[in-house]
Amino acid sequence: MTIRPLTADDLPAAWELGRLAFGGPAEAPLHALREIPGTFRLGAFDDAGRLVGKVTDLAHEQWWGGRRMAAADVSGVAVRPESRGGGLARTLLTELLARVRDRGAAVSALYPTVTAVYRSMGWEVAGALRAADLDIAALPRPRDTGSVSLRPGGPDDLPAVTDLYEEVARARDGLLTRRGGIFDEPTETPLPRDVDAVTLAEDGGRLVGALLFGRGRGYGADSRLEVHDLLAATPQAGRALVGVLAGWTTVARTVRVPLLAGDAVSVALPLERAGTHASQPWMHRPVDVVRAVADRGWPGHLRGRVAFALTDAAAPWNAGVWQLELADGAGELTRVTAEPELTLDVRGFAVLYCGVGTGRGLAQAGLAGGTADPAALDLLAGGPPAELLDYF
Ligand SMILES: CC(C)(COP(=O)(O)OP(=O)(O)OC[C@H]1O[C@@H](n2cnc3c(N)ncnc32)[C@H](O)[C@@H]1OP(=O)(O)O)[C@@H](O)C(=O)NCCC(=O)NCCS
Repeated sequence: MTIRPLTADDLPAAWELGRLAFGGPAEAPLHALREIPGTFRLGAFDDAGRLVGKVTDLAHEQWWGGRRMAAADVSGVAVRPESRGGGLARTLLTELLARVRDRGAAVSALYPTVTAVYRSMGWEVAGALRAADLDIAALPRPRDTGSVSLRPGGPDDLPAVTDLYEEVARARDGLLTRRGGIFDEPTETPLPRDVDAVTLAEDGGRLVGALLFGRGRGYGADSRLEVHDLLAATPQAGRALVGVLAGWTTVARTVRVPLLAGDAVSVALPLERAGTHASQPWMHRPVDVVRAVADRGWPGHLRGRVAFALTDAAAPWNAGVWQLELADGAGELTRVTAEPELTLDVRGFAVLYCGVGTGRGLAQAGLAGGTADPAALDLLAGGPPAELLDYF
């Protein structure tokens, strides 16, 4: 078996393997057959030179505490059916972790089809891409929208929409920057795929809200609008755009809306009326714990220190005894020699880092332990819960 980076010549075979695994369309999208700056694909070839396994580092950036962090977000993990169960995914992911660490990545996220494979490699479920299905008739009509004005948008407005997304995303943790790599590639359609129409909200000439959605088919009982993006930077913009959705009531029954907790849109939605919540779990792990702590912003009011022994079999450079210190919005992880009273598995690190668990809870889950109170590990969980709005 040979493991090596894929070149442009390998991309048709990589597309076929991905199509076999995930049941993609017969026709490859253009970006699948071209090299994308930053995107790194690793393949496993058998003795006959056949591609039998692959994994992709999407080289995204994620916002953490107002700072951009280099992320090795993983996708397209696939092994040919004849080669499964023999440790190939493990070999590819181990090699990928070492390479992305060398290129400076701090953290990694992925959407699993099977958590067990990634748990055995140190990723843990730390959030979900969420969407609510709402009855359009129950949405509030526009009110208190101040001086917000609405207009249709088009392809020329997309750079401003990306800036608005940034305004929303950088105030939260975990979200992609949507800059660089695939995000800077030319698209096959003028609007993002699956988007039929754009409504923009402006206030004093400034873009403060954007609604990008797919119209869906027909206007009967099963008609549904699919919102691709619903972004608002002011409460008035949030209410105005929810009001625009309400205006679709005569020709669409439901709308599927991606959710961010407590943003200017969510606080205007009747979430108690949400039907089936679509939810897609994602997993996270630090690629390099020192960078993961130093490169992000931390809440300015947090101050403290905790030492723990970290285990990380798949990324041994992370393993060992560390002291975490947070002060004045910055963090540092340094190696210490004294044997600490607390232990932490890298999967527990991921859960705390993403702000979705506690030290005591992780001790119950077997991902933290020791002789001291594991609540001291909560320092690592001091940021807000991490979120994602993009599937990859
Ligand atoms: C998922 C997939 C990539 C795994 O590849 P593989 O080479 O068979 O995996 P490995 O043999 O390296 O297994 C790695 C670990 O995951 C476990 N594992 C593998 N497949 C598993 C499965 N289907 N369910 C539960 N655990 C599984 C193995 O037991 C092993 O754990 P261990 O080292 O602790 O014993 C492969 O089955 C595949 O291509 N499936 C279709 C596409 C897909 O689902 N890709 C994942 C997208 S997120």
